[in-house]
Amino acid sequence: MKLGIEAISLYTPNKYLSLEKLAQARGVDPKKFITGIGQEKMAVPAPDEDVVTMGANAAYQAIQQVDDSSIDTVIFATESGIDQSKAASIYVHSLLGLSSSCRSFEVKQACCSSTAALYMAMSMVALKPEKRVLIIASDVARYGLETAGEPTQGGGAIAMVVSATPTIVSFDTEFGSYTEDVMDFWRPNYRDEAVVDGKYSIKIYLKALEESWKNYLKESNASFGEFDYFCYHLPFTRMAEKAHFHLGRIAESDLSREELAVQMEDSLHYNRIIGNCYTASLYIGLLSLLDTADKDLSGKRIGMFSYGSGAMASFFSATVCEGYKKALQPEQNQKMLAAREEISVEEYQKIYAHQLPVDGSEYKTAQHETGRYRLAGISDHKRIYEAVKATVPAEELVHA
Ligand code: HMG
Repeated sequence: MKLGIEAISLYTPNKYLSLEKLAQARGVDPKKFITGIGQEKMAVPAPDEDVVTMGANAAYQAIQQVDDSSIDTVIFATESGIDQSKAASIYVHSLLGLSSSCRSFEVKQACCSSTAALYMAMSMVALKPEKRVLIIASDVARYGLETAGEPTQGGGAIAMVVSATPTIVSFDTEFGSYTEDVMDFWRPNYRDEAVVDGKYSIKIYLKALEESWKNYLKESNASFGEFDYFCYHLPFTRMAEKAHFHLGRIAESDLSREELAVQMEDSLHYNRIIGNCYTASLYIGLLSLLDTADKDLSGKRIGMFSYGSGAMASFFSATVCEGYKKALQPEQNQKMLAAREEISVEEYQKIYAHQLPVDGSEYKTAQHETGRYRLAGISDHKRIYEAVKATVPAEELVHA
């Protein structure tokens, strides 16, 4: 039985900040952010957006492509959740009008929980091949103003329908995983911003890659040379370059640096102009590769590396389905990215400082461009979500 992705959709906020302008405002050489870190723009979620609205926007598009009555589980992966108890998936389940017989829950392990959701989804579909699982990975990456992490912020969501009739990629069942208790990046409950030991986090990311790869080889007997492309968790694009050169060295690949770069450069385009989206980043990288590669990737093998600080990681592999292009909407994704509004550093700082009330008092959020769904406000400690006019008409979202 093949298990994999039958539909995949991206949503990212309509506002972005140019990292060149951020560098100028911080008195940093823009080349550091653009070349050294490898980021050009970062998405800035509006005050009436959060992981639920972004996730619902992505998921709305994904479920147009399948029979949604067959979705029996919604798994929401996030590390910027909006409630300690109630799962974000329940809000999305309601906004999308999914069946009440559907299971719905949230999972957590930093950026890696979307991959944990994928393992779970595949196991569920293997048990009931006629069912589908909707995975939503949605996050807002937030560090302190004027910190080293500031240029590696971003936000967005990916939604994937996992089934036994994949049309985009199928996954092999071997996963090489690695867990180690480290404090490279974390966010205590009382903080809105992550605490991070940046340089250490890069070292641990690379160590986790090496260990996951070794464990993957024990499971699969595959070799580096069998892979045509690689997708890495993308906190920023230079991280994937460092990771891929590192893996090439460990695997004793005889490919040149240029040949290695070609194996992952198409996976970087979207992240470079969106920024880190934590749980969604790896899968935004996969979508970027599939949407932007100028070759037909049918039958190509992709090595995938998922990393979540704290830390847990997995190396696994995917094969691109024959005719996958028919199941994608690259023009729609590129239209969404091109239509975004650039904001100034002052506007970004104003949005950054915006806080929702924490005493349960009535609050109505000002309306911004948020796609199909928005956070309308707070009432009696409850988040109130609403559907708004869609920017993209539904008929444009459905495949021919
Ligand atoms: P920093 O200390 O400001 O930067 O923070 P730097 O001094 O290391 O410089 C960055 C690069 O720019 C270096 O390149 C410099 O040489 C270069 P490298 O040596 O690495 O090749 N550079 C220049 N290049 C051209 N022209 C110039 C110039 N100046 C310097 N003028 C850091 C960088 C990434 C550490 C920081 O942004 C940070 O802390 N970010 C957040 C943490 C992070 O993203 N960690 C990644 C691994 S952990 C992870 O991926 C998990 C995560 O997604 C969370 C989760 O799992 O939930 C974060």
